[in-house]
Amino acid sequence: MYLSRLNLSNFKNYSEIDINFSPRINCFVGDNGVGKTNILDAIHYLSLTKSYFVSIDSVNVKHGEEFFIIKGSFGNSAEDEEIMCGLQKGKRKVFKRNGKEYTRISDHIGRYPVVMVSPADSSIISDGSEERRKFMNNVISQFNRAYLNNIIAYNKALKQRNRLLKDYAAEGKFDRQMLELWEDRMLDPAMKIYESRAAFVEHIVPLFQEYYDHISDQREKVSLEYRSQLSKSSMKELFDKNIDKDRVMRYTTSGIHRDDLKLKMNNFNIKDIGSQGQQKSYLVALKLAKFDYIRDMGGILPVLLMDDVFDKFDEMRVAQIIKLVSEKRFGQIFVTDTHRERMQAVLSRINIDYSLFLIDEGVTEIMHNGKKPD
Ligand SMILES: Nc1ncnc2c1ncn2[C@@H]1O[C@H](COP(=O)(O)OP(=O)(O)O)[C@@H](O)[C@H]1O
Ligand SMILES: [Mg+2]
Repeated sequence: MYLSRLNLSNFKNYSEIDINFSPRINCFVGDNGVGKTNILDAIHYLSLTKSYFVSIDSVNVKHGEEFFIIKGSFGNSAEDEEIMCGLQKGKRKVFKRNGKEYTRISDHIGRYPVVMVSPADSSIISDGSEERRKFMNNVISQFNRAYLNNIIAYNKALKQRNRLLKDYAAEGKFDRQMLELWEDRMLDPAMKIYESRAAFVEHIVPLFQEYYDHISDQREKVSLEYRSQLSKSSMKELFDKNIDKDRVMRYTTSGIHRDDLKLKMNNFNIKDIGSQGQQKSYLVALKLAKFDYIRDMGGILPVLLMDDVFDKFDEMRVAQIIKLVSEKRFGQIFVTDTHRERMQAVLSRINIDYSLFLIDEGVTEIMHNGKKPD
């Protein structure tokens, strides 16, 4: 399955566009701000029912308009599937498959998986541990409904426990049994979340390392490690051991809400020693490993969206990545770049179906498999 056609009405900077795609590589070139990323975001909508970048849907309605519509055709035959996402300002989002509205929009997720590689991913390296937990949660929950429920149950009880710790400190009293009521509800979810995260990381580590070696020509050694207090103690032991500390701090100081991923290069934190290019390669490798995980778990080849990935790379590294993703284990790919000539040169050297689109006033296909389209 692949996205054969995309139709946008009043989505971000686009009034009306209609584009047909290659089943393999689609590349958008154009200056900054012309709307390259917006097209990838529209594709993200069709897969995950929301924007990759903004959590409020109405922000994506073209300024001065009242609604947006995103339509996509998947496949290239009589059995094409039509996916439609529409939003009228002030109303709820409508999501349809073959003309039939979903009662629960979330039921659509997983049908057409995508993986986005974006400059915004740098927060995984530069920001706090919450970004890295989000990265894990977001992938794991796509295939494990119970995982999300466990996160919700854990966080709910955690909030109550933290509130009690605060109240007790303010009121100068303490009731361990009351705390334990909430702790008991966290034990089982904590264990299951820990196990899921550990299994996820174990799955992606070898893939990640292989991708990094490929992209970087094995110049540096990278690693990725899951860190959790649950690896040595049970949640119950952590509560008991840290109760005095928790009372002083007035919040829960241990548990899976403190989990992290250690991202390293040559045994140092990549954040501290990695160059921009190395950090970028690290993130691309991580996202490609995520791609493999989603494919392995869901049995469907995701669409790969690579936004501005080549920005800090030289032509050799660009060629290497394009060559890598043109291999059979990848399916349809959408790439954006500001260097038209470089992209054209790289594409002309690969031997698979591709389309190159120029975005300026509108979106025009300027090259199809090395030829100007008629
Ligand atoms: N809701 C909107 N209405 C109109 N224009 C928008 C809207 N949201 C974003 N834009 C415009 O889209 C452009 C950015 O598009 P983007 O896809 O990020 O460009 P790039 O080609 O650099 O990736 C900006 O000019 C911005 O003003
Ligand atoms: Mg962009």
